Amino acid sequence: MWPYPRTLAHRGGGTLAPENTLAALRCGLAYGYRAVEFDVMLASDGVPVVVHDPELGRTVAGSGHVSDYTAAQLGAMEAGAWFGPQFAGEGVPTFDAVVAYCKAQRIWMNIEIKPAPGVDVATGAAVARATRDYFAKEIAAGELLPLLSSFSIAALEAACQAAPELARGWLVEAIPADWERTAKELGVVAIHCNHQQLTRALALAVKEAGYGLFCYTVNTPERASELLAWGVDGFCTDRIDIIPSMA
Ligand code: G3P
Ligand code: MG
Repeated sequence: MWPYPRTLAHRGGGTLAPENTLAALRCGLAYGYRAVEFDVMLASDGVPVVVHDPELGRTVAGSGHVSDYTAAQLGAMEAGAWFGPQFAGEGVPTFDAVVAYCKAQRIWMNIEIKPAPGVDVATGAAVARATRDYFAKEIAAGELLPLLSSFSIAALEAACQAAPELARGWLVEAIPADWERTAKELGVVAIHCNHQQLTRALALAVKEAGYGLFCYTVNTPERASELLAWGVDGFCTDRIDIIPSMA
């Protein structure tokens, strides 16, 4: 039901490094995290890149939208300096570069499909296809694969069509009343919810129905223990410094 690691570094290195950069992955690894969550969006040339916001300005210096620039242009932009001068020069990495790093370091991935508004289907399909191609050998060998997830139902459906062999998780803020029907329709293996909206009863219901249960973003060891005691299978955290990595 949940063959994946229990603890994931959110956006690469949580709040200890500029999110969704190669530096974040290095940071996560330095804290012993060999499992990671990150966000993938499409650049103007259709190349998947790793970034959270569809607009530039918060973590990536510049203005406009991610979808206004090619992956090469985004790669040359400044995505590290906002966090600290020691991270200056980090660009927006391509999905390709992040997967290559993770595979080389044996880091497991929860790949969040994060479509810019209006491009849900194209993003879901492109990310799923790219993932299937990167992991062709592992798929053939029956090895553990990354888990795709998204808040976007259209992106999840497109991912399923493009690469049905890849498992998917459905991301929600709060688990809705009719969650089981939607989960079944989507063919997902897990529900990913905001831990602040989760109750013990709902956790039990999800587990009893046979789904994996994943929470974001859990930042204290006490809450992590409580959620695991409720049956939560895994979670991502910003606080890789105070929550030790668990297999
Ligand atoms: O995938 C879990 C979590 O990352 C979802 O929220 O906004 O941090 O991508 P966000
Ligand atoms: Mg995310």
